[in-house]
Amino acid sequence: MQIELFENPYRPGAGHMPPYLAGREQETGEFLELLTQRTILNNVVLTGLRGVGKTVLLESLKPKGLDKKWLWVSSDLSEASSISENAFAQRIITDLSVVTANITLKKKVNVSGFGDGTEFVNVSADFQYLSKIYSETPGLVSDKLKSVLNAVWSYLNQTEIAGIVFAYDEAQIMSDHRDKDQYPLALLLDVFQSIQRAGVRYILVLSGLPTLYPKLVESRTYSERMFRVIELGRLSAVESRDAIIKPLEQANTPMRFTEESINLIIGTCGGYPYFIQFICKEVYDILLQRDSTGNDATESISLAEVAQKLDRDFFSPRYERLTDRQRELMEIICEVREADTEFSIQDIVSESKKTEKPFSGSHVNQMLSSLINKGLVYKNRFGKYCFAVPQWVNFLKRR
Ligand SMILES: Nc1ncnc2c1ncn2[C@@H]1O[C@H](COP(=O)(O)OP(=O)(O)OP(=O)(O)O)[C@@H](O)[C@H]1O
Ligand SMILES: [Mg+2]
Repeated sequence: MQIELFENPYRPGAGHMPPYLAGREQETGEFLELLTQRTILNNVVLTGLRGVGKTVLLESLKPKGLDKKWLWVSSDLSEASSISENAFAQRIITDLSVVTANITLKKKVNVSGFGDGTEFVNVSADFQYLSKIYSETPGLVSDKLKSVLNAVWSYLNQTEIAGIVFAYDEAQIMSDHRDKDQYPLALLLDVFQSIQRAGVRYILVLSGLPTLYPKLVESRTYSERMFRVIELGRLSAVESRDAIIKPLEQANTPMRFTEESINLIIGTCGGYPYFIQFICKEVYDILLQRDSTGNDATESISLAEVAQKLDRDFFSPRYERLTDRQRELMEIICEVREADTEFSIQDIVSESKKTEKPFSGSHVNQMLSSLINKGLVYKNRFGKYCFAVPQWVNFLKRR
């Protein structure tokens, strides 16, 4: 058997489509339901921890949206695009023009000497044309952007197209900049809210880390009514099993994991898709090597070694970036009951009283803010703190 021909099917890596997308039927159903709204009242926030599968779910929704006759405008947001209102408007127009470039709009032009003096000509709704509408519209950035979005809709409205999905990933990067008097996030919310109210069928789908939704609400409180939050969680045991075994069944490989290995992997991964891809890829390689050395490929494997690799590649780099005092704080949080779910400043302060160098409430508050900036912690909807990295507490306890 030429073992090296059996390419490893697993895909650990940000945004890499898994060989088999397990679960997520409910979230997909909820999204498709929102596409049936006549007037768009609910937009979508797709949120969850690192590596839970937001990007690949979004990607998998695209063909489903296209099937329902929606156009799909998408991109990843970056700090650069949210630096100013104008930069952000340019981002939207650029993304929009990618899908509208092959649409032909009828433009009114004035001609002198004939009839009532107007005539219609065909123009392509490409970037140049949309930019022209933008720059020729007087007023604020929001007026200009609305005018572009409305111009495209006034055409689409007469066609079979149901509307446009504006899908933005990494949306937690967006911020308003009070100091510079630039409010790109508020611009996005204001513009969409206003055109949706006027009946334009454009739906916003913003995907990002759990900090996203609080940021939207902070920018515009009406975001609470404007968005439906779809929270991506862990996969169930059954879904995890699918994510583990289906790729082998579908791929051209004789490799199979034993029941014992499968259960071990399910237990170790805790339902986190990135961990499943990572560990399965490693285990597959180990089995492949064993097989090529003549051993039974279905032999059970020891996960300890693989889990160590996950610690080294995924968790440790994040831990290394912490200061000594932050590490001490982490250890204290670990002792808080249910720290894996959520914890409060008060929880930490009382736990820290048992140690030699206790933390004051204001010190904890300040340290949590810097951990939020490092992307390790976030504040949930109920004002409690949570770890943004899955299974962080387990990792700390293992150390
Ligand atoms: N439902 C699923 N079934 C199997 N594997 C999945 C599933 N969802 C995601 N994965 C895998 O998990 C990994 C992470 O997915 P993805 O990059 O979409 O996560 P994310 O939530 O966007 O993470 P980040 O917050 O870092 O952007 C990828 O390797 C992907 O193939
Ligand atoms: Mg992602």
